[in-house]
Amino acid sequence: MIAARPSSFSRVIITELMIPSYANFGGKIHGGILLSLMDKVAYATASKHSGAYCVTVSVDTVDFLQPVEVGELVSLMGSVNYVGNSSMVIGIKVISENVKTGVVKHTNTCYFTMVAKNEEDRPTTVPALILENKTDVRRFIEAIFRKGFKKDYETNLNKIKKTWDKQEIASLLEKERCINQS
Ligand SMILES: CC(C)(COP(=O)(O)OP(=O)(O)OC[C@H]1O[C@@H](n2cnc3c(N)ncnc32)[C@H](O)[C@@H]1OP(=O)(O)O)[C@@H](O)C(=O)NCCC(=O)NCCS
Repeated sequence: MIAARPSSFSRVIITELMIPSYANFGGKIHGGILLSLMDKVAYATASKHSGAYCVTVSVDTVDFLQPVEVGELVSLMGSVNYVGNSSMVIGIKVISENVKTGVVKHTNTCYFTMVAKNEEDRPTTVPALILENKTDVRRFIEAIFRKGFKKDYETNLNKIKKTWDKQEIASLLEKERCINQS
C-alpha cells in the first residue's frame, strides 16, 4: 500500500445539469437528487485516495441553504479532509450556476465519512494524508474537532436520557408545539 497521498491527488469535481425529471412538485430540484450526487462524489474521492472499495458510514451537516432550479449546472467538489485508520472524511462543497445569468450560488457544504474495505469486506488502512497548504491543515483540524463534538453530543445525550424524570419531560414539552398523551 502507498504510505501517503497528497490531498490534491484525490480531488474530484462532478458537474451535472439539473433536468426537469429531477424536480419536485414545487419545481425545485429534489434534495434526494443532490444527496445521491454527494454520495457519488464522496465515493469517487475516497476510493481515489484509498485505492479501495469504500462505503458511506456517516453524513454530517447536510443543510440545503438555497433551492436549486431546473436548468442550473450543479458542481460538487470533493476533497479528503481527514483520514483515520480506515475512515476518511470527505468535505463536499456544492455550487449551482445559472448559465444564462452567470449567478453562482453556494448551496451547501457537508461531510461524508467513508470507510475503505478490503477483499474480505473488512475495514482496511488507507494512506496518510499529505497536507499541502494552510487550507488542508484547517480542514484536517476542523474534522478532528467535529469528530470530538459528535462524540460529546452522543455521550451527553445518553447521559441526559438516563437521568430525565417525568417532571423534566413535562416542563420541556410544555414549551413545545406538541400534545403529550403518553
Ligand atoms: C461502518 C463499518 C465499516 C464499521 O465496521 P466495524 O467492523 O465496526 O469497524 P470499526 O469499528 O473498526 O470501524 C471502522 C472505521 O469506521 C469508523 N466508524 C464507525 N462508525 C462510525 C460512525 N458512525 N461515524 C463515523 N465513523 C465511524 C470507525 O471510527 C473506524 O474508523 P478508523 O478505522 O479510521 O479508526 C460497518 O459497520 C459497515 O460496513 N457498515 C455499512 C456501511 C454501508 O454499507 N454503507 C452504505 C449504506 S447503504
